[in-house]
Amino acid sequence: MAPVWLPKAFLVVLLLSGGSHAISDDAWCYNQPRCEPNTWVTLGQCGGNRQSPIDIISGKATHNQSLGAVNLTGYGDHKKLLNIKNTGKTVDIELASGLLLSGHGLSAPYTAKAFHFHWGDGASKPGSEHYINGKRYSMELHIVHTKNNKNISDAAKDPEGIAVLAFFVEGSKNAKGKTAGAWEAFIKNLEKVSVKGKEEELDTTISLLDLLGSTDLARYYRYLGSLTTPGCNEVVIWTIFADPILVPPKWLRPFHLTSMPQILPEDHS
Ligand SMILES: *[C@@H]1O[C@H](CO)[C@@H](O)[C@H](O)[C@H]1NC(C)=O
Ligand SMILES: *[C@@H]1O[C@H](CO)[C@@H](O)[C@H](O)[C@H]1NC(C)=O
Ligand SMILES: *[C@@H]1O[C@H](CO)[C@@H](O)[C@H](O)[C@H]1NC(C)=O
Ligand SMILES: [Zn+2]
Repeated sequence: MAPVWLPKAFLVVLLLSGGSHAISDDAWCYNQPRCEPNTWVTLGQCGGNRQSPIDIISGKATHNQSLGAVNLTGYGDHKKLLNIKNTGKTVDIELASGLLLSGHGLSAPYTAKAFHFHWGDGASKPGSEHYINGKRYSMELHIVHTKNNKNISDAAKDPEGIAVLAFFVEGSKNAKGKTAGAWEAFIKNLEKVSVKGKEEELDTTISLLDLLGSTDLARYYRYLGSLTTPGCNEVVIWTIFADPILVPPKWLRPFHLTSMPQILPEDHS
C-alpha cells in the first residue's frame, strides 16, 4: 500500500463547541481591505486553534499504517453532477445523492453534497489553499461531505461532521486523454455562470472520477481542521491528496470568466 501520512501536530481532537453563528455573505471577502482574510479573525471560530488551511510539512507528518485508500462509492456515476452556481466567492457544483465516502479514520459514511474550487491567476499565480512544504498549487478542488448525510448546518455542529477531499490541480502540457477531455467538458460550463448568483444545469455527462483522473487515492495527508471560510467552523476531517490532478494549462484560465478574483494573501495562517 502506498504511504499515508498524518501530521503529528493534529493528532489531538479538539472538542470545541461547534456553535455556528450566522455570518452574512458580505462580512467577508478575499480582496477588499475591509473584509479580506486578515479581518476574518473576529468571525465565528476563525480565531480558533484548529484552523485550515495549513502548510503541510511532509517531514513532520507521521505514516499511519492503519489508514488505507479512501473508499469512494458512486463517484464514477455520470449522472451525479447537477447544477453549477456562481456564489460570488466560488463556483459550487451541487451533487445528486448517493455519492459516499468511507474508510479508516472516518467513523461513519460521509455523503458528498457539493464541490467547489479555489484558484489564483491561471498558471502564473497559484491559488490553492493548502501548501505542501511551502509549495502552492494552481488550484484546489474541494469535495464537501457530511457525516451520515446530515445537512450542512447540522454537520457544522459536530467536531467531525464534515469531511473534505482536497485535490490540487496543476497545469501540465503532458496532460491529455480522458482526464483532459473531462476538464474541457466541465470548464465549458463556467461561461454560463459568469455573473454572481447565476445557477445553471451542468451540460455534461462526466463523473467526479473522470475529473479526478489517476490520482492515487491511498496517498494523502489527514488532519482535523476547519472550514476555510467564515465561520471557519472547526468540524472538518481533511484528506489532502499528495498527487495533483494534471490538466492542460489553458483550462486553468477560464475561472476568470466567473469574474471572481479569489487570490488569497501569501500569509494565510
Ligand atoms: C466501500 O463502501 C461501500 C458502501 O459505502 C461498501 O459497500 C464497501 O464494502 C466498501 N468497500 C471497502 C473495500 O471497504
Ligand atoms: C492512525 O489512524 C487511526 C484512524 O484515524 C487513528 O485511530 C490512530 O490514532 C492513528 N494512529 C497514529 C499513530 O496516528
Ligand atoms: C437540518 O436538519 C435538521 C434535522 O433533520 C432540521 O431540523 C433542520 O431544519 C435542517 N436545517 C436546514 C437548514 O435544512
Ligand atoms: Zn473550499
